[in-house]
Amino acid sequence: MKTGISSIGIKLPSRYLDVRELATLRSVDPNKFTKGLGCHQIALCGDHEDAVSLGAGAAERALEAWGGRREDLGLIAVGTETAADMSRPLSAFIAEKLELSGALRSYEVKHACYGGTLALRQALEWHASGAAAGKSALVIASDVSLYAPKDPGEPTQGAGAVAMVIGAPTVAEIDIATTSWSEPVFDFWRPVGEAHPRVDGPLSLDCYKRGAWETTRARFGDDLAGLDELHALCFHTPFPKMVKKAVRFIGEQAGWDEAKASSFFEAKVEPSMRWNRQVGNSYTASLWIAVADVLSRAPSGARIGAYSYGSGFGAELLTMTATGAAPTWAAPFEQDALTRAAMDQSSYETWRVKTTHA
Ligand code: HMG
Repeated sequence: MKTGISSIGIKLPSRYLDVRELATLRSVDPNKFTKGLGCHQIALCGDHEDAVSLGAGAAERALEAWGGRREDLGLIAVGTETAADMSRPLSAFIAEKLELSGALRSYEVKHACYGGTLALRQALEWHASGAAAGKSALVIASDVSLYAPKDPGEPTQGAGAVAMVIGAPTVAEIDIATTSWSEPVFDFWRPVGEAHPRVDGPLSLDCYKRGAWETTRARFGDDLAGLDELHALCFHTPFPKMVKKAVRFIGEQAGWDEAKASSFFEAKVEPSMRWNRQVGNSYTASLWIAVADVLSRAPSGARIGAYSYGSGFGAELLTMTATGAAPTWAAPFEQDALTRAAMDQSSYETWRVKTTHA
């Protein structure tokens, strides 16, 4: 059975900070954040915004674009690492806001930034297997990424949500074939009750690159033959320079020279990070923001790869074919980005004091 994305909705929070403001506040050369990490803006939540409101906002947009009946949904799954409760799934908080109840499976999926992709894969495989009995799934990836003040990860913060209805592939058909890789490591984790993650930065970079290589070679072979046929290759984007490092790494493993790696990056990867640069790291939503950006401009038949990474660590490479459907999710994203309020150093400092999540 053909299956994939039927509609997409994205929701950004109402504030943002230019990383150059953060650099000045932290007495760091702004080039370190803009050129060294490739960051531009980080999305930040306003007073009444969190992973629940962002997820519900994205879901409302996806459901409106889908246009189906609520009773034709058989599953709601939320990938997040911004849990609101140790027991109650974030899907219950979001379903409450959407007034969604009845003959539905409803649950939360956790695997750091990989959780949204896992929720999507479960929905896809559920639909393709026939177990859905003709129903569709609502998949939501929603997160708020916050590091401790002055942490090296601070310029890579962000927040946002992507919701997708999974069923008939009217926006993109996702291939059932997929390649995954996992290793149990501590590269980035947040112990129960702690507000901010702990990070082994260099280890996280190594794991991310290794996951990219192992999943890509498993799909395209050791010489990466066939990768060039992709219209675009999207990545989970903790910060844009990470993605560039990963492309360089997989190119080195496959025997590409520097010119080949750089032209592949410029043509197939860099254009997918346009929206990520306005959001920062939105954890589970990050990859799907890149995919949504690419799908909003992709012609019918374009083949797209999507590399998902979640600390801990799990990695997966998905492939899909765009249908060239009208990008109903692009204007709302651009509207959110245009209308949000810019924070300055002093408002960010005040905001930091009162903002945390545990
Ligand atoms: P850092 O202390 O900023 O690292 O931490 P750095 O000192 O190595 O500097 C970074 C780059 O800036 C370097 O470039 C410097 O040379 C450059 P590179 O050598 O790497 O190409 N630089 C400058 N460039 C221009 N002008 C200057 C200047 N100064 C320095 N003046 C680190 C960086 C990534 C470790 C930190 O931001 C961090 O801990 N981030 C969080 C972890 C992370 O994002 N890891 C990525 C992979 S893991 C992942 O993606 C999962 C995640 O999303 C979580 C999840 O799964 O839930 C994070």
